[in-house]
Amino acid sequence: MKFLVIGSGGREHALCWTLAASPLCESLYCAPGNPGIAEDAVLVDIGVNDIDALVRFAVDEKIDLVVVGPEEPLVNGLADAMRAAGIKTVGPSAEAARLEGSKGYMKDICRKYGIPTAAYTRVDSYAEAEAFIQDHGAPIVVKTDGLAAGKGVTVAMTIEEALAAAQEALEDGKFGAAGRELVIEEFLEGEELSYFALCDGDTALPLASAQDHKRAYDGDQGPNTGGMGAYSPAPVCTDAVEKQIIDTILNPTLAAMKAEGSPFQGVLFLGVMVTDEGPKLIEYNIRFGDPECQAILMRLMSDLAPALLACADGVLSNFDLRWYEETALTVVMASKGYPGAYEKGTPITLPDPAGPNGAPDPDVVTFHAGTTLGPDGGLAAAGGRVLNVTARGHTVAEAQARAYAEIARIDWPNGFWRRDIGWRAVERENALANPVSK
Ligand code: AMP
Ligand code: GLY
Repeated sequence: MKFLVIGSGGREHALCWTLAASPLCESLYCAPGNPGIAEDAVLVDIGVNDIDALVRFAVDEKIDLVVVGPEEPLVNGLADAMRAAGIKTVGPSAEAARLEGSKGYMKDICRKYGIPTAAYTRVDSYAEAEAFIQDHGAPIVVKTDGLAAGKGVTVAMTIEEALAAAQEALEDGKFGAAGRELVIEEFLEGEELSYFALCDGDTALPLASAQDHKRAYDGDQGPNTGGMGAYSPAPVCTDAVEKQIIDTILNPTLAAMKAEGSPFQGVLFLGVMVTDEGPKLIEYNIRFGDPECQAILMRLMSDLAPALLACADGVLSNFDLRWYEETALTVVMASKGYPGAYEKGTPITLPDPAGPNGAPDPDVVTFHAGTTLGPDGGLAAAGGRVLNVTARGHTVAEAQARAYAEIARIDWPNGFWRRDIGWRAVERENALANPVSK
């Protein structure tokens, strides 16, 4: 079979690495991809938002299955255009993609179908926003309705902060059209986790849980980023919590979207807060998380390709996937300065994949996220998040140690990374291993 993966980050490298290993995979393409992906797939020089060119390529090459990584082309109708051209695609329609594309839509779906989430209101004028914020008090959360490159959410600890966020979006146009309407919602307290499922419109096949680290610096300090590391499974996702997520959020969402006439087909990513009252939905994403995907796919024992085909064909019920019980953990190496301004083109030297023991370590993989080839043909950094060093281990601590040992072999003077990815889970492991008697 011929597969086409769309995207160019670490998530797409992990998808290509996984699909390339499938016995079903005869040829694998990635548009536009990156130099790491080029080891697993043929790169196609078409951008993720060039829908017409992507469809033309898929039709001309008789692609059997398209797998879309990022949200933006999905929100813009890429999956609809592929399906209209007769190309099987893993990814939701533009209608269903509104679950991520519009916070207001997402909240209204939750309210209508009784899916647990923070109490909220929708506003499109500063006067309304001010009245609600003054009335409700802080802490309170202000969100742009539309996609704002991960910067549209303000968790305000004071009324002043919340008012400033509302003013910037509604009056100053800081986020353009994405911020012309806001959702203002209750602050939820608890531990966050991500939960992933493959959906075919009717059936959701649970994949795995994960936790990521959004802040740039150690100790979860510093500015928000796209994610500086992640691990799977999330220890906070006990069997009881998982059952609640499936019963009260995941399955009701599939039923809701079907009832709305926009069945959800693709990867559904639930951002969940585990509160004292049980799991509550923070957000939907309509795709794999990046870098959560890298950790999750390293735990997959089964072949991913037939699962993705079953997803596109609407036959996921009775489908099952097997997973390694081990933890997988990924550390993001980023360009110094990220998420602010950073230098591009700085040279990177990767170690010999064979490793110190002479054979490649099956438990360690370095996925490329933002790399390019420099003028001399050598590897160079091309983005903020550049490499995702991913490792498996019997414990979180073991996976963590393996990932950092691999990072020590990578020579990239302009790179930085967090030294504490997985700290919460490692602390939990240590507490279980050394219970303190009271
Ligand atoms: P989002 O872009 O919706 O993922 O929001 C970004 C981050 O803001 C989330 O990952 C949470 O850490 C935080 N957040 C969003 N909504 C809430 C809420 N209602 N209560 C507390 N934290 C929130
Ligand atoms: N790592 C969070 C995301 O992909 O949205």
